[in-house]
Amino acid sequence: MVDEGNLGPKGQGADGGPGGGGGRNGGAGNGAGADGEVIIKAENVSFFYGQFQALKNISLDIMADEVTAFIGPSGCGKSTFLKLLNRMHDFVPGTRLAGEILVRGTSLYGPETDPVDIRRRVGMVFQRPNPFPKSIYDNICYGPRLVGVTKKSDLDQVVEKALKAAALWDDVKDKLGKSALDLSGGQQQRVCIARALALEPEILLMDEPTSALDPIATSKVEDWIRGAGMSIVIVTHNMQQAARISDRTAFFYMGELIEFGPTLELFTSPREVRTENYITGRFG
Ligand SMILES: Nc1ncnc2c1ncn2[C@@H]1O[C@H](COP(=O)(O)OP(=O)(O)O)[C@@H](O)[C@H]1O
Ligand SMILES: [Mg+2]
Repeated sequence: MVDEGNLGPKGQGADGGPGGGGGRNGGAGNGAGADGEVIIKAENVSFFYGQFQALKNISLDIMADEVTAFIGPSGCGKSTFLKLLNRMHDFVPGTRLAGEILVRGTSLYGPETDPVDIRRRVGMVFQRPNPFPKSIYDNICYGPRLVGVTKKSDLDQVVEKALKAAALWDDVKDKLGKSALDLSGGQQQRVCIARALALEPEILLMDEPTSALDPIATSKVEDWIRGAGMSIVIVTHNMQQAARISDRTAFFYMGELIEFGPTLELFTSPREVRTENYITGRFG
């Protein structure tokens, strides 16, 4: 469980801008500094939808307790890569993976790995808020009930903790029995974050989680991400968002990882011409 103690601000600049990961060594195919723990390690990952190769030989390290952003033009493979990290392609026929992905040293696709366990350890929040047509309370309890938590007092605790961790408790504590669908879009997205957190994931994946939200709701979700103090990978279409909230940024282009490094460095002194062209708006 993400406890409330994790909600304090991270070691980022006072303006909330990037910088938490600054000073560490970055680099495409590397990204890991001397300090910090690697939570997900991808090595030479290629991925195919039928004959179409959507990802080409991607290697990168995702660091624990950091926010990692994936940026790049539409169709470059960001979502495909993100979905690989919790085995969401498992049921898509005709797909094929080559290479290795490790979660804290355990092979994500190894024969001994249970995909259900992986989806519990690696949470996911999608682009459009997708609460179940149930009460707020039942949304948050959904995962814990699936894994066998039944006692009311335990579930009450899970709900309160997850909603506090998602910065939604004060908004909804008096209406937990109301339908989650009656909440605003931003609140619905935080219900989805709380629903994911209720399973105590080690890492949270977010695929353009604010692209369906208005600016105020977006900034609330961004504030949450910045303060969460947990390992988060976020796909974003919005480069300003990546700059505001991430420690490291990976730039994808046409299925390749072009550059990966501390966010500040990638945006202020990119090493690759393609990165520079993209971040200065020359294509995309
Ligand atoms: N289920 C699928 N079947 C076939 N091709 C797909 C599928 N999903 C995505 N693609 C293709 O893979 C490429 C990468 O897509 P995606 O990962 O969704 O990109 P992004 O998230 O960067 O916009 C695109 O060319 C897209 O058309
Ligand atoms: Mg996408």
